[in-house]
Amino acid sequence: MTTWTRPTTLEFPKVWVTFEGKGVTSSGTKQKFWIQDVTDDYKEEIIHYIITGYLKDTPIYRYSKFTDDPQSVEDYVTMWRKILDQNVSLICLTQDGRGQTSVVGFNIYAVLHKNANRNLVEIMKGRVSKMVAGTQSHIWNIKDIFTELNIDFNITSWGLYVLPEFRLQGIAYELLKAGREIAVALGINVSVTLFTSFGGQSVAERVGFRDITKCSFEDFERVNPLFKFPGIEADSSKAMRLMYIRYSDS
Ligand SMILES: CC(C)(COP(=O)(O)OP(=O)(O)OC[C@H]1O[C@@H](n2cnc3c(N)ncnc32)[C@H](O)[C@@H]1OP(=O)(O)O)[C@@H](O)C(=O)NCCC(=O)NCCS
Repeated sequence: MTTWTRPTTLEFPKVWVTFEGKGVTSSGTKQKFWIQDVTDDYKEEIIHYIITGYLKDTPIYRYSKFTDDPQSVEDYVTMWRKILDQNVSLICLTQDGRGQTSVVGFNIYAVLHKNANRNLVEIMKGRVSKMVAGTQSHIWNIKDIFTELNIDFNITSWGLYVLPEFRLQGIAYELLKAGREIAVALGINVSVTLFTSFGGQSVAERVGFRDITKCSFEDFERVNPLFKFPGIEADSSKAMRLMYIRYSDS
């Protein structure tokens, strides 16, 4: 799924956005953040936060007990490493009073061409990774998004995460909005992204994403009895939603 690579003509690494958080620091000032390309020196730190944070906090991974199955974690981490090597992912950083830079969140982007192999299940070996990839492939395949939206390329977010101590300050909103900057620089007009958690869907709606198709967690079990996320009914996340934004409209 990842044969596309970033053109060498596009400046790298580039800072795409700088902004202030909604919260106020202990010294009464607004904290400053910036969003830039993910450089090689941040890739393993992102993988660390995926394993210790993203896979624990995101409902579809939490309720499928994804991290209990080492093969499944290895399958997805292998995929994320390949995606990160496309060099279109974004990281949000901040600096503390002593000038120490730290990771705040990230938005892992993949660029997909309409002819790329999108069969996730066939590259998974783990029991849980096959199940989760099955649900994701199901929703991606309900419609041919490339024909439906009349596009050749799609830039898709494949992992939006903000560290707990920085949440509800507008970081995810800025990370998703920054997707527009890099997409436009690459000449890509549309982002189609699968948002699986209520939090991610709320942010996506505020940025201007609209549904293409969706599937509730109840319906997944009707599609395939193996497509189960036991306990997810107690979560505010009720469905996976495949959503899109057309940057020329926003
Ligand atoms: C979902 C997540 C990325 C949101 O990050 P965040 O930086 O706290 O989000 P923001 O502060 O940018 O929120 C933007 C808007 O969405 C709303 N929102 C964010 N998280 C929400 C949640 N869990 N429930 C409802 N609304 C939420 C905010 O209230 C805010 O609305 P406002 O503009 O009216 O203030 C973060 O909670 C996270 O990393 N969760 C775990 C991983 C995950 O679920 N990723 C998304 C997978 S689809």
